[in-house]
Amino acid sequence: MLKLNGKIALVTGASSGIGAASALTLAEQGAVVAIAARRRQRLDDLATRIRDNGGEALAIEADITDEAQATTMVRRVLEDYGRLDMLFNVAGIGVAAPFQNTTTGECREMVDINILGLLYTINAALPAMKRQKTGHIVIVSSGTGRYIHPSVVYSGTKHAASAMAESLRREIGKDGIRVTVIEPGAVRTEFTANMRDDVRLAVEQRLGDMEQLESEDIAAAMLYAVLQPPRVNVNILTLYPTQQA
Ligand SMILES: NC(=O)c1ccc[n+]([C@@H]2O[C@H](COP(=O)([O-])OP(=O)(O)OC[C@H]3O[C@@H](n4cnc5c(N)ncnc54)[C@H](OP(=O)(O)O)[C@@H]3O)[C@@H](O)[C@H]2O)c1
Repeated sequence: MLKLNGKIALVTGASSGIGAASALTLAEQGAVVAIAARRRQRLDDLATRIRDNGGEALAIEADITDEAQATTMVRRVLEDYGRLDMLFNVAGIGVAAPFQNTTTGECREMVDINILGLLYTINAALPAMKRQKTGHIVIVSSGTGRYIHPSVVYSGTKHAASAMAESLRREIGKDGIRVTVIEPGAVRTEFTANMRDDVRLAVEQRLGDMEQLESEDIAAAMLYAVLQPPRVNVNILTLYPTQQA
């Protein structure tokens, strides 16, 4: 018997890295997974992979910085499956640079995705979870959201995500809704490759040949959190590469 049989999950940021690995892990455990991001082809390829493995997947193209698209994304899941058991907020970007090497445009982008996009998505999902009297919201923040970090604005957006998750947990726990924050250190994904060249080079130099976490390590941590009995809320999981800890 698969452990998440019959459960409906929505994963944002599912077109690569941690989100894609999470979707695969959840599907392997029997969950129906709605996978969302902007890159349609990536989502379609992942959906095919999940179906080829015997799972069920729904690809939803959405830019979560647009509140209407974030709302439609959640509504689509509810229309197709009638409920939403688990919401995995993975979508995010980072320009891991000092404040004086971060443009205001980059600041806005990080706030738009890492804070506002996250809030639009949760806001759209909460009424259904409250009606159901059960649900699990997982938020991928970052170690830079707990500890002071030189990437000032990225770290600030992740501090906001972690802090709001803490308060939200206290607000909605009584409704049977769990909130878990995952705070990883360096994970080997496209995250760094997507940064501006000079920032990327500085990050690569900082990390050197250190063995980073894999996306599957984060997916396993999320799975641990959602598989606990409903009375157990795993509040925060902080995972670092052994050589970075
Ligand atoms: N890698 C690390 O070292 C690390 C460490 C700590 C925390 N994190 C956090 O982990 C999360 C996942 O990152 P990752 O490492 O897996 O990097 P990634 O491979 O670059 O994945 C980022 C995901 O976010 C999606 N995304 C970006 N902007 C979006 C938007 N406006 N609307 C919808 N989706 C959007 C991307 O999809 P599209 O481009 O297709 O939209 C992609 O699927 C992020 O929140 C990141 O801050 C990463």
